[in-house]
Amino acid sequence: MNILHVLAFWQEPNLFAELWRTFQLTAHHDDLLPISIAIVGTGVVLAAVSRRHRRHVRVALVMYALAFFLMVLSVIPAMLGWQAASKTLHAAGLLLVGFAVVKLAGIILFDVVLYVTPFCPPQVLRDVTVAAGYVGVGIWLLSRYGVTLSSLVATSAVVTGVVVFSLQDSLSNILGGLVLQIDQSISVGDWVRIEQTTGRVKEITWRHVAIETRNWDTVIIPNSVLIKSQVLIQGERAGQPLQERRWIYFNVDFRVPPTEVIRVVTEALVTEPVTGSAADPAPNCLLMEFKESYCVYAARYWLTDLVNDDPTDSLVRSRVYFALQRAGIPLSVPAMTAFVKSRDQERAKLHHERDIAQRLSALDLAQVELFREMNEDERRKLVERLRFAPFMKGELITRQGAEAHWLYILTKGSAEVLVSTETGVHKTVRVLHAGDFFGEMSLLTGEPRSASLKALEDCECYRLDRVAFSDILHGRPEIAHYLSELLARRKVEIEAVRHDLDAAARAAMMKGQQQTIFDKIHKIFELGYTVPKQ
Ligand code: CMP
Repeated sequence: MNILHVLAFWQEPNLFAELWRTFQLTAHHDDLLPISIAIVGTGVVLAAVSRRHRRHVRVALVMYALAFFLMVLSVIPAMLGWQAASKTLHAAGLLLVGFAVVKLAGIILFDVVLYVTPFCPPQVLRDVTVAAGYVGVGIWLLSRYGVTLSSLVATSAVVTGVVVFSLQDSLSNILGGLVLQIDQSISVGDWVRIEQTTGRVKEITWRHVAIETRNWDTVIIPNSVLIKSQVLIQGERAGQPLQERRWIYFNVDFRVPPTEVIRVVTEALVTEPVTGSAADPAPNCLLMEFKESYCVYAARYWLTDLVNDDPTDSLVRSRVYFALQRAGIPLSVPAMTAFVKSRDQERAKLHHERDIAQRLSALDLAQVELFREMNEDERRKLVERLRFAPFMKGELITRQGAEAHWLYILTKGSAEVLVSTETGVHKTVRVLHAGDFFGEMSLLTGEPRSASLKALEDCECYRLDRVAFSDILHGRPEIAHYLSELLARRKVEIEAVRHDLDAAARAAMMKGQQQTIFDKIHKIFELGYTVPKQ
């Protein structure tokens, strides 16, 4: 038979019978059927058992399908008498069969057998084992075709020299990968900084390490570069939780004493740590440097949510800003413009008037119950003594159990009243809005704060100190009655939330509370006023 017979197969009715006969006669194909069944069967079972292995199983089966095709194809040159070509195709097929078997064996060993044991081999062990398997198949095949191991070793020295020389870079990547995988100095999931790149390690392969940055990029760093570079593993210290110290710099001018700045900022950060930062070690504030006209400070905190570094920095900066505003400490202005303008008296008065008008309208808008009965003059006097106190969303305005210094009037935003129960659980008593005031209970009774207040959004408050509050009370002793009723109601509400009281229990508690509180206020403030008969 020649190639013309094969090409004109439709004129050769016996061609397929001939092909089949040659296929059967070819001595090499005697094991093909059982091997096929074993490989395909194993692949199907593995793929069915676990989704995780499907991709690898698919690769093994594709290898095997190719091998099968090559072996069948090797029959055609055999029929034509081209023995060398047939042998080559057959050898290539055998090689692929061997590879497919090694691959499946690797999956069974590492993904099934060792997977159920506590031993967790590194990826490199698997790769080395499979690679050794491939080499073994190659040697077996060569020996089957008459190439002995000794002649192979003799020639391989030369070949190895050539390969090593030409693949220097690849080999150093591979060696680097090997070192990284064995000493496990970095692992998948670590946050690292390598030269200019910061991000989370996504995968470590033989050739490279892939790092996903916070900007949604993936940087591939060849292992040969990596093992020569300094690698910083962020936030990691043996036996400690994952957290990294961050520094937030800000400037305040010389006129404000550093102790005051440090106290205000530290308090703002420690009272209620911002989301994504640690309570322990506690945040703090340091004076870092003296400049031309201002001091440089750093607020330091521990970042626990390493993904959100910039957003958490931003929260801390806002917290610092609000705290400084509350304390009346301005951030520094550029030295060039800081002292060029001295306000004349006229301007200063104008400024003050504008400020007072603003406060009055804020109070009017807020419709504060406490000041409703006051006349214009009284209100003005009161407003002069108010201090502006903004709070950032999430900040604690005052803490349960703390000593009281201020009465607060909320003019913008909302805040929740929280009580902690004996079991340490925080429960919401009520949400306060613009127009509400709080902090009066402790000022009136001399007791510690009965609840905590937390800003639910950015809030603007005005606060009144104890002396000013006392002056108001002495000026209008009749509000003591209104306040004692309010206090009694709030107190009962707190107890009801704390102890899950029903309506009857609340009513019983309310009885007598108002008079007791009124008497207390009366005594503390020495008011000459009695409760009107109802
Ligand atoms: P004081 O105890 O000084 O500090 C916490 C403040 O929360 C408290 O004063 C009240 O002003 C306020 N507060 C407590 N309970 C309530 C409530 N039930 N409704 C509104 N405000 C409350």
